[in-house]
Amino acid sequence: MADATRSRPPEAAEDWTVPQCWHEYSAQDHATWDKLFARQLGMLPHRVTPEFMAGLDVLRMSKPGIPDFAELSDRLMTLTGWQVVAVPGLVPDDVFFDHLANRRFVAGNFIRRPDQLDYLQEPDVFHDVFGHVPLLAHPVFADYMQAYGKGGQRATALGMIDRLARLYWYTVEFGLIRSGDGLKLYGAGIVSSYGESVFALDDPSPHRIGFDLERVMRTKYRIDDFQQNYFVIESFEDLLERTLNTDFGPLYDRVAQLPDIEIDTILSEDGVYTRGTQAYAHGKVAA
Ligand code: PHE
Ligand code: FE
Repeated sequence: MADATRSRPPEAAEDWTVPQCWHEYSAQDHATWDKLFARQLGMLPHRVTPEFMAGLDVLRMSKPGIPDFAELSDRLMTLTGWQVVAVPGLVPDDVFFDHLANRRFVAGNFIRRPDQLDYLQEPDVFHDVFGHVPLLAHPVFADYMQAYGKGGQRATALGMIDRLARLYWYTVEFGLIRSGDGLKLYGAGIVSSYGESVFALDDPSPHRIGFDLERVMRTKYRIDDFQQNYFVIESFEDLLERTLNTDFGPLYDRVAQLPDIEIDTILSEDGVYTRGTQAYAHGKVAA
């Protein structure tokens, strides 16, 4: 995602991209990818939205080792017109939005150390590529990501990036989707994490609430642990419909007049799928 505070490293181009340097990954780097990939594949197929599995398949992502971005981009370009470009880490918001608005997904080119399989602070190539790229092969989700980039440019001009960022967080990163009478995963922050892929669907602790755009824009989020609430969309078509064709201008004005909503709150108007016990989050505070 984006971070406005850092300055561009000397090796990066003006748009912050760097060569992926695929040949410079070590055997250990590729082994780390393979280990993370196998672990997620052992558990995701019946948990994740089928469009994600279809994306892994059409992009040939089960090929061993860290994917070569040029190869991924060739396949994606044919399918949905997207590319994957390498960056050294988090990039400033305006750079991030400009890439998305032009159907370029920025991915960190480094991989976590072997002792960081379960948690790391900055998104690496496993989070960025395994987590985000499969759904870019889905035409509707691909359009949503580009629309978000354009929306980011507009939100910047309106001083509303923080409100828009909550939409990204609760959809692209931590979204759940309804599937028949159950729920499935699609957010990249969930599907690239073994622990959260189990927690987000199975744990009695978090709330699971029907997606509502204004509600999401008012809701805080945490970046340090599993989420305390997840928002459930009906379908990617429905998500795109509710965002692309809605003028966020009046919505930002309204939200600016309303208080933020805490991460463990349920409102009377919420469409609640599961009311969480919050035991996980509260247990941690007490511990
Ligand atoms: N329609 C939004 C706006 O008016 C743009 C947007 C689309 C933002 C899709 C996010 C996702 O700003
Ligand atoms: Fe991400």
